[in-house]
Amino acid sequence: MLTNQKNKFNLPNNITYLNCAFMSPLLKSVEEVGHKSVSQKCLPYQINGDDFFTATTQLKKAFSSLVKIEDYRNIAIIPSASYGIATVANNIKLDKVNEVIVVGEQFPSNIYSWQKLVHKFDAKLTIISSGNSFKNRGKNWNDKILSAINQNTKIVALPHVHWSDGTLFDLKAIRKKTRAVNAYLIIDATQSIGALPFSVKEIQPDALICAGYKWLLGPYSIGLAYYSDAFCSNGIPIEENWINRKNSENFTGLVNYESDYQPKAGRFNVGEMSNFTLTPMLIKSIEQLLIWKPKNIQQYCHEISKDAIEQLQNLGCYIEDATYRSSHLFGIYLPKNINLEKLKTEFFKNNIYVSYRGNAIRISPHLYNSKDDFSKLVACFKNI
Ligand SMILES: Cc1ncc(COP(=O)(O)O)c(C=O)c1O
Repeated sequence: MLTNQKNKFNLPNNITYLNCAFMSPLLKSVEEVGHKSVSQKCLPYQINGDDFFTATTQLKKAFSSLVKIEDYRNIAIIPSASYGIATVANNIKLDKVNEVIVVGEQFPSNIYSWQKLVHKFDAKLTIISSGNSFKNRGKNWNDKILSAINQNTKIVALPHVHWSDGTLFDLKAIRKKTRAVNAYLIIDATQSIGALPFSVKEIQPDALICAGYKWLLGPYSIGLAYYSDAFCSNGIPIEENWINRKNSENFTGLVNYESDYQPKAGRFNVGEMSNFTLTPMLIKSIEQLLIWKPKNIQQYCHEISKDAIEQLQNLGCYIEDATYRSSHLFGIYLPKNINLEKLKTEFFKNNIYVSYRGNAIRISPHLYNSKDDFSKLVACFKNI
């Protein structure tokens, strides 16, 4: 099992940071690369034409290794999850009878494009909510999603784990059902990739979108998107950028305007995809994740949190059964006798950082956390 890795981060000892799902801290090594990259811009004569392409290719290859993508050219660099989702929505046509399925209280960047799309084609957005009962909540929610998918379903767009409480969605079963009705499976993996194993080869989604500043431990404003060949062959990007066109490597010929794009998902890269500061930083953090491996991060988070989870359940809190939730991100639903405002004050007094999403207190640990952090968390519940 992995050991605690706090020495690789700059988090102060008096802070209990259980909020990676909000924003990860940077690794010291990534901060160092960032400083170097900023300084490089002071000496622009050291930047050459190849540099516009080499680091982005390296980044795409690193991401391919992390999520088992056969061809790195199916990946585009995106500035945000919403951008990656908008690209997908921009390339799907619906019929009036079609529906797009999402889950209840899904993150807005994976909602608004679908709202717009169904509005454009006068189709339907179907929201599958968890239901009110905590009994078998995760299983029932997954069953509801599976039984909602039908011949009229054109798109199922959902995350691997719910952003507010970590409920796991059974992507393998959902893929099987979507295949059977010829529907797209679009995954927003922003809250899972990096900390939870995922394989494109195994699940074969039509698109996989991931912002970089949470579980990829990267900087803000850069992420990655995988688009299957079906999107790549004739896909239309949401903006037209010089670098995404064929032969853009040849700077002297840029005004020989090209109608063809770079191969595969190269057409979907965001403008100025070569971001010289952020790209090397994200490469560095993914390289570290490749050494640690998501399955080990998951196991570490499970080990440091399991006793605390049992104690909180004994206090009457609802936390999803381990089979249907992740260990790097989970929600605590309070019983009526525990006052949320008092708890917030207690967390504040003890420098404990968590998030409040929907009705859940969201806890999201990483390798810089320890069992001790969870003991401090439980102590706050006991103190009030
Ligand atoms: C599930 C999920 N997707 C995406 C994002 C970020 O979206 P964007 O990159 O569009 O700001 C978040 C941020 O909290 C999230 O929780």
